[in-house]
Amino acid sequence: MSTTRTSTTQTTAAATRLRCIACGATPDSAAQDFRCTTCGDLLEFFFPGWISAPLISDTAALKALWLQRRTSREELDQSGVWRFRELLPHISAEHAISLREGNTPLYHLARCARAIGIENLRAKHQGMNPTASFKDTGMTFAASSAHQGGFKWVACASTGNTSASMAAYAARGNMHGLVLIPDGKISWGKLSQALDYGALTCQLRTDFDGCVRILNELVLQKPVYLLNSVNPYRIEGQKTAAIELMEQLGWEPPDHIIVPGGNLGNSSAIGKALVEMRELKLISRLPKLSIIQAQGANPFYRSVREFGGKKLEPMTADTLATAIRIGNPASWKKALRVLEATGGEVEQVSEIEIAIAKAEIGADGIGCEPASAVTLAGLKKLRRSGFVKTSESVVLILTGHQLKDPDFTIDFHRGELFSGTPGAETVPAKHLQRAPIVLDADLGAVIAALDAAERNS
Ligand code: F0G
Repeated sequence: MSTTRTSTTQTTAAATRLRCIACGATPDSAAQDFRCTTCGDLLEFFFPGWISAPLISDTAALKALWLQRRTSREELDQSGVWRFRELLPHISAEHAISLREGNTPLYHLARCARAIGIENLRAKHQGMNPTASFKDTGMTFAASSAHQGGFKWVACASTGNTSASMAAYAARGNMHGLVLIPDGKISWGKLSQALDYGALTCQLRTDFDGCVRILNELVLQKPVYLLNSVNPYRIEGQKTAAIELMEQLGWEPPDHIIVPGGNLGNSSAIGKALVEMRELKLISRLPKLSIIQAQGANPFYRSVREFGGKKLEPMTADTLATAIRIGNPASWKKALRVLEATGGEVEQVSEIEIAIAKAEIGADGIGCEPASAVTLAGLKKLRRSGFVKTSESVVLILTGHQLKDPDFTIDFHRGELFSGTPGAETVPAKHLQRAPIVLDADLGAVIAALDAAERNS
């Protein structure tokens, strides 16, 4: 990677500062690649003095203000991100690009809870965002910062969801979007979104990590604004999912929050919000935040389990949960801090465990994309190990909508997802598979199918 680092026009508001997570340097503005110009590590926002700021220290008034905004006619108040702007860096309203993101539902997963043997299991469905993934909460904020900086082009490397989200927000903000995706390794649903929103979409013959490498070099040579989650504005926007969750729970934290881990931006953001809310006394204790990776894309799991978090060895990742097919996660140090601060765990789950968990979430009438289902699969393991207890409350963060990757779902239900893989016939999934039945257009045939289903139910 080139070492040239040009300064952008973005600066932080008076009450907000940027800080390097490794060397602690506090630059006034970020370089194009959002890396520390001293040591090359990631930057984060911090808020010196906000504990004593009158509006923020009156927690009851702050909570009331946020709630009241839900009934406001103002566009930004209606956003589940901008509604919490007191805990975000300042971006002026004229530059805000919003699709009314956030405000996502919190559902009980009653059947899943019974099957696992825990009393209180809920899912916050971030797939219910405008482009159907959690990325919108970070994207509204970071795309707005690009707009404020006067950028014509914004860009990201993506496994699909970031690109869909970025393309939409770029279009809304009259900016051009450049998308770098791994050729053949993202779902059609996500690719189709980026195309429809008008992004310049380049399918590179490499994996996600290869796309990131090229983009990091590109932004040092061209005036293109980087919208991956190394951009600390993305993390700030994504924090709001945790704030909104606490509001939905009446500011009574659950015992556990479980998130999928890919590039590790989302776990970092949710963890940052939890720590900040605790610091501001918006909540009285920290939930344990646990991170689940697919076994074939588990560099963070291995970093923690094998190296005690001292280093991360990049790997060539492979999983059918393409959203988290990532071998060199950028935010692993931030995620590690979150595990340490909250006392959470890291787990890995197999392809079969992911597929079964996804069908179980579907059977609860909720549904999600494969990468989101690692949360339930991971919870089962954490329950078995005793880390999660029967009486404890758990919230899974479902990151993407069920319709993002229908091919996975259809292949699973037709019994074709693992065909060709050794041991596929022994996959214990028959009870969940609902392959469509092709029949003649005949009433008797439909009644026979109904009766057979009734007998088997
Ligand atoms: N779940 C979904 C549905 C995702 O799309 C991603 C990441 C993750 C989980 C993991 O989140 O990277 O913050 O740890 N998708 C990225 C993308 C990388 O390009 O869309 P993370």
